[in-house]
Amino acid sequence: MGLSSRHLLGLQNLPKDDIQLILDTAVSFKEILNRPIKKVPTLQGKTIVNLFFENSTRTRTSFELAERRLSADVLNFAAAASSVTKGETLKDTARNIEAMKIDMVVIRHNAAGSAHFLTHVVQANVINAGDGQHEHPTQGLLDMYSLREKFGELAGLRVCIIGDILHSRVARSNIYGLQTMGAEVSVCGPATLIPKEIEKLGVKVYHHIDDVLPNIDALNVLRIQLEREAGGFFPSLREYHRFFGVTEERLKRAGKPVTILHPGPINRDVELSADVADGPHSLILEQVLNGVAIRMAVLYLLGTQQ
Ligand code: CP
Repeated sequence: MGLSSRHLLGLQNLPKDDIQLILDTAVSFKEILNRPIKKVPTLQGKTIVNLFFENSTRTRTSFELAERRLSADVLNFAAAASSVTKGETLKDTARNIEAMKIDMVVIRHNAAGSAHFLTHVVQANVINAGDGQHEHPTQGLLDMYSLREKFGELAGLRVCIIGDILHSRVARSNIYGLQTMGAEVSVCGPATLIPKEIEKLGVKVYHHIDDVLPNIDALNVLRIQLEREAGGFFPSLREYHRFFGVTEERLKRAGKPVTILHPGPINRDVELSADVADGPHSLILEQVLNGVAIRMAVLYLLGTQQ
């Protein structure tokens, strides 16, 4: 039994069996990550290129570590130091790199659909590491893995995503993936940062954080992109924190523990107070470790397909 596709482009329409297989496979890889020797020969002889056209800390290092833990040969490409700065297109860049006989491409790009486009121009397996405001499937998977590890199962779990839903690929991947697995998903944020008609995806919409907290098991807190203040989506970061900031005081008022996730990078004391980020109900650093296990699982399942 394997994945139903040669690529991982998004969680929208990804079958439940595929998600289940990735999450189950990641359990074995997490166990390997906790061993004294964390390397296995599974992808020996495979070459993987990380094509990053946008900045990244967690996702790029997490993919690279996952690839090295699986013994693949790794090629890192950063747009700023490449011929992209001389006007080369994504298609030419990708085809030139593939001519060097690579097996898999991990791509992050600011254009929605870029990973999908790449599947039409290269033979290699393509993994989407974030395409514009569209999807970030491995982030969605690692969030689901972290929740399943904590709660035992995803079906029936009540998860709210709070913050800038409008511009967030993490929100979209989480909504699609969690719903496929039977979780109940809601979103919360200022009206200006909630996409119109998002209810049609089957999510509940809240505009007051205090209405949400007593009714959920977990809260996935999104980074407030600082440029959104200048874009007029909310009056000031201070005001955002006042109305939507996740603080210890607010969580206490909810009267029950709420598990906290954040995909990073965090703006401390904007969307999340420092004591909550570092507190006992935060899964934030566990998410980072789980990200390596999830990426190992995806690379393994795609890289060993017949
Ligand atoms: N979560 C996430 O995508 O972080 P980076 O932008 O640092 O990769």
